[in-house]
Amino acid sequence: MKVLSIIGARPQFIKAAAVSRVLRERHREVLVHTGQHYDYEMSGIFFDGLELPCPDANLEVGSGRHGAQTAAMLKGIEDAVLAERPDYLLIYGDTNSTLAGALAASKLLVPVAHVEAGLRIFNRRMPEEINRVVADHLSDLLLCPSETAVRNLSTEGITRGVHLVGDVMLDVLNWARQQLTAKAPTVLERQGLANGHYLLATVHRSENTDDLERLSQILHAINSLDEPVVFPAHPRARKMIAEAGCRVERHVRVIDPVGYMDMVALTSAARLVLTDSGGLQKEAYWLGVPCVTLRDETEWVETVASGWNTLVGADAARIIEAVRCFAPNCSRPLLYGDGFAASRCVDLLN
Ligand code: UD1
Ligand code: UDP
Repeated sequence: MKVLSIIGARPQFIKAAAVSRVLRERHREVLVHTGQHYDYEMSGIFFDGLELPCPDANLEVGSGRHGAQTAAMLKGIEDAVLAERPDYLLIYGDTNSTLAGALAASKLLVPVAHVEAGLRIFNRRMPEEINRVVADHLSDLLLCPSETAVRNLSTEGITRGVHLVGDVMLDVLNWARQQLTAKAPTVLERQGLANGHYLLATVHRSENTDDLERLSQILHAINSLDEPVVFPAHPRARKMIAEAGCRVERHVRVIDPVGYMDMVALTSAARLVLTDSGGLQKEAYWLGVPCVTLRDETEWVETVASGWNTLVGADAARIIEAVRCFAPNCSRPLLYGDGFAASRCVDLLN
């Protein structure tokens, strides 16, 4: 079979690293990068660090408003599908690249397989929610990371082609952990951080970065903490912090985004993670690090139910309280599969 995979944003490079490896053992893959993320630290670093093959094409759409960005991707992906005539189009997650892939392929009657199908937060103010609802309704093969995701689809009347496969991000994490034990990471030394004695923060959701009140509350909370904080800043966060003229205290180290291996090392050794990232909430859980989530809801509800993740929104007092007091003292059952999700995805493509 020929499978055309669409990637474009940071978490998609990471997920594709797991699936591509297995896919290429059995089928021909054409990898199309939409160019949604383009800085080296947001894109190239993952191809270099995760043994992800070079894309066959880069549409170079870059940044833009949702409509313009998605439209440029739609055109480029349509051309690629017409040129390649794949047997399947593979999409990941819930970004604008996901939406464009689903739309372009389904109109050309190419079956769509969606990795990470069925996630919902029931809040359409979040652009990702719109992307995933549309992508799921257009997909033929819905590859779900959790039973909750399968149920969400069923509630929307989607039951055909739905499979519980687990989360491909666990596959990547397991691979990365093996690599890390083989060669010791130096990122902690480079950043002067002591194992277990710092916090790791990331912020990039539009609901947090583009809302000055929420961004100020988050920064105020981080500035008020009395522990070192390492903050690999997504370009969107860095830009908004600069534009708003927000101050950052000396104990908060704002650094460029890091590669995946460094991120796993930083997460593993953190005392606690503060984040609005979807992927990082799960990685913190898998690595046994308490997570304070800077959102009002999460699609990864199991991490909250397990007692290892707490939702605090963007309220400074709640964030500070959680950082000081949140200390899960409970077991950590394996969530989101067994680390072999990618193989199951490829089996189902057959
Ligand atoms: C996108 C996804 C989000 C995902 C995130 C992963 C959508 C709607 N959102 O959000 O679901 O969680 O990726 O990180 O698809 N920028 C740069 N350099 C880059 C990339 C972005 O400077 O390489 C800046 C630009 O100012 C851009 C802004 O970041 O306008 C936002 O980028 P965009 O891709 O639109 O959204 P993300 O916030 O990255
Ligand atoms: N990540 C990374 N470097 C960073 C920040 C995040 O490698 O500087 C990884 C993180 O470990 C996770 C993924 O990127 O695997 C999450 O991506 P992001 O937070 O951008 O998107 P989301 O998961 O929220 O869609």
